[in-house]
Amino acid sequence: MTLWHGRITEAPADVLMAFTASLPFDVRLAPDDIAGSRAHVHMLERVGLLTTEEAAVVGAALDRVEQEITGGTFEFLPTDEDIHTAVERRVTELTGDAGAKLHTARSRNDQVALDLRLYVRREGRALQRRVIGLQEVLLARAREVEDASVPGYTHLQRAQPVLLAHHLLAHVWALVRDVERLGDALARADVSPLGAGALAGSSLPIDPDFVASELGFARRFDNSLDAVSDRDFVAELLFVCALAQVHLSRLGEEVVLWSSEEFGFMTLADEYATGSSMLPQKKNPDIAELARGKTGRMIGHVAGFLATLKALPLAYNRDLQEDKEPLFDAFDTLGGAAEAMAGLLASATFETERMRQAADVATAAATDLAEHLVQRGTPFREAHALVGNLVRHSVERGVPMAELVMTDPRLGPDALPLLEPGASVARRTSPGGAGPEVVAVQLEAAAARVAALKAAAG
Ligand code: ARG
Repeated sequence: MTLWHGRITEAPADVLMAFTASLPFDVRLAPDDIAGSRAHVHMLERVGLLTTEEAAVVGAALDRVEQEITGGTFEFLPTDEDIHTAVERRVTELTGDAGAKLHTARSRNDQVALDLRLYVRREGRALQRRVIGLQEVLLARAREVEDASVPGYTHLQRAQPVLLAHHLLAHVWALVRDVERLGDALARADVSPLGAGALAGSSLPIDPDFVASELGFARRFDNSLDAVSDRDFVAELLFVCALAQVHLSRLGEEVVLWSSEEFGFMTLADEYATGSSMLPQKKNPDIAELARGKTGRMIGHVAGFLATLKALPLAYNRDLQEDKEPLFDAFDTLGGAAEAMAGLLASATFETERMRQAADVATAAATDLAEHLVQRGTPFREAHALVGNLVRHSVERGVPMAELVMTDPRLGPDALPLLEPGASVARRTSPGGAGPEVVAVQLEAAAARVAALKAAAG
């Protein structure tokens, strides 16, 4: 029997059920649907729409349904088109008349919006914790690699040496913003839509403020039409997840590069690398590639869902059912990618000697030579040209930089220490820069920030 058997007497066509049902994916909302129904029952009792006995009977049936679903014994019927229908149908089976009052002054339109907001609150913090897990690995590795340096790149051309810790921390800060953005989006989603009814509220004396506070929401909706139409929180979370995934993609890209023979900066642990079915020698960074590759789908979710929302008139339209699959997928994908990348990075070996050799090439000190001249009064543009000339001569004629520096009247032996191994990175002393003194400060700041995010994420 359908929920609408009064108005429509014929049973729905099989194809209608197959095409429109959302149960296969919204079954995930079962705990939220039950929590929302419990609060609704308390409210109905409080305002006198359910007697105390009826509320107790329906409450007990909700407990039973919860046990059946978590225990895997709940029997879904072909007519259960979504989780809301299934739960209500079973409660009514168990309780008869009392259960038939459960849906008083409620529509699936406010119910589904409520369930999804409850889901977001429950899983959003779990997602924050999964991303924080990756930050903690990056922080631990940054601490452990101490003063190892690596070439810093612009345009993927060697630019200036940086501490490896500085490089790892750059990814931590991007993820800090992601976790914060998730928190901001969760705060905006913290509004109860229950009590909006189908679209216009109710003639019955319901109390939306009571259910909002009973469910721990910051507040209730202001406008019933908006309450059942609003999926801004979904669009926003899809964007937040897509951007975080973009950050994992950039990190993944670096893992792919660094673990290549060409770079040789990183060796993956066997447990976190894959082999080839044909090429016996291969050790592949598939986790990093998929962290990168899944980003396409995540970006697609944002564009796709905005397109779904774009021309919808107020209020609820069935199109809105398309909110759940991308949202669930975005949470699963980002969380899974963060965990897999955390495992990969925790177990990988940084080839710090190879990094150091790449970082300590004499041309990497070019900027230091120019800055040395600046400190002695040469205008920067002039210093830049002078050192640029030296580098060109060194490259074209194969003369070592040290020799050219030594014999240059404006540089000379005083400037030679700048070419020493490790000299360049040690000189990066400005706040937030890439050298040891300031990176030590930064590391503590990042650790404190991540610890604060972790405490807030529960
Ligand atoms: N399965 C629907 C959804 O996910 C629930 C709401 C259905 N409401 C309706 N009036 N058909 O959006």
